[in-house]
Amino acid sequence: MFVRDQWYVAAYGYEVGRDLLSRTILGEPLVLYRTEDGEPVALADRCVHRRYPLSQSHLDGDTVVCGYHGFTYDRTGACVAVPGQRRVPRTARVASYPVVEQDSFVWVWIGERERADESLIPRAPWLADPAYTTVSGMEPLAARYELLVDNLMDLSHETYLHGGYIGTPEVAETPITTEVDDKNGVVHVSRHMADAACPPFYARSTGIEGRITRWQDIEYHPPCLYLLHSRVAPAGVLPNADGSDPDGFHVEVVYAITPETEHSTLDFWAVARDFALDDQGVSDFLRESNRTVVLQDVTALNILERVIATEPEGYQELSINIDTGGLAARRILKRMSDVRS
Ligand code: FES
Ligand SMILES: [Fe+2]
Repeated sequence: MFVRDQWYVAAYGYEVGRDLLSRTILGEPLVLYRTEDGEPVALADRCVHRRYPLSQSHLDGDTVVCGYHGFTYDRTGACVAVPGQRRVPRTARVASYPVVEQDSFVWVWIGERERADESLIPRAPWLADPAYTTVSGMEPLAARYELLVDNLMDLSHETYLHGGYIGTPEVAETPITTEVDDKNGVVHVSRHMADAACPPFYARSTGIEGRITRWQDIEYHPPCLYLLHSRVAPAGVLPNADGSDPDGFHVEVVYAITPETEHSTLDFWAVARDFALDDQGVSDFLRESNRTVVLQDVTALNILERVIATEPEGYQELSINIDTGGLAARRILKRMSDVRS
C-alpha cells in the first residue's frame, strides 16, 4: 500500500554529492547528485535509450553522461546530446523529481509534479540546529514499511526487544495516551513515566545516577516522518511553569520511513540531543547504541516480513491498548492511499 503524491526522504544531505547515488523509492529507481553550485538533483535512474542505470554513469559538469552509449542529460532530465548524430530525439528525456533539502534531509516528491508543495514537508529542525548535536544513520530493512510504522508507534516493545539498551520494565507497564489530529493528519502517542529505571542509553549519556522521570511524546506525520520527543530528568524533576526546562535532558529521535519496494524500506534514524554537545564520547556512544537498537528492530521486522510472506490469507491479529497509535496510523495511511487510487 504505497502513498503517492507525498514527500519522502531520499537521503541525508551529506550522502548527496558529486558521486552518483542510486536510491529506489516507492519502487521508482532514482539517481541523486549535486550540481557544481551545490543544488541537489533527482532524476529517474534509467537511460531512455537502453535503460542503463544512470547511477552507473558519470557526471560532466552538471550533466549525466550515460555509461553505456553516452546519452547526456541535463539537471532537468532533458537529453542534450546523443552519439553519432546532431539531432536529439524530441522524446529523449528522463523524469526529474522535485527536490528540497531541509533539516539535513534531501526530500523528494513522488507523484504528480504539479501537486508538489514544499510547505507540506514536515519539519525536524533539531537536526540542523547548532543548539543540538546529532548522530544519524540509515539501515536498509527487508520488510514492508508498515511494519516499521507499527514498531515505532508502540514503544512498549522497548522493554522486551531492547532490554539493556533503552528498555526498562516501566515502558511496557505505563499506559499511553493517543490523540489523532485528523485535520493535520498527525498521530500523537504519549507515555509519561514518573519514576523509572534509567536505561544505559540515558545513564551513560546524561550522567544521571538513579531513577528518572522519563517522557516519550511521539508525533507521526504519515507517511514518512516520525518524531519522538524524549525528556529525561532525575526522578521528580519537572519543567518550570513557564515551560523552561534547564534540568531536563532532551533527545529528539527522528525517523524517516521511506518505502523502497513493497517489501523493503529505507530506515533513516537520527538522535539529536541538547546536552554534552561537544562530547565526542557521548556522540560515539549514542551512535553505537542507537544503531544497535535499530538493528534489533531490523532483525525482528525482517523475521516478521518472512512470516507474513508464508502465511495463509486472512490471519487475524489481536490488538490491545498499546496498539491504539499504530492502528490510528494505519487508518490514516489507508485513507491517504485511497484518495490516490
Ligand atoms: S543505455 Fe544509455 S546511452 Fe545507451
Ligand atoms: Fe525498537
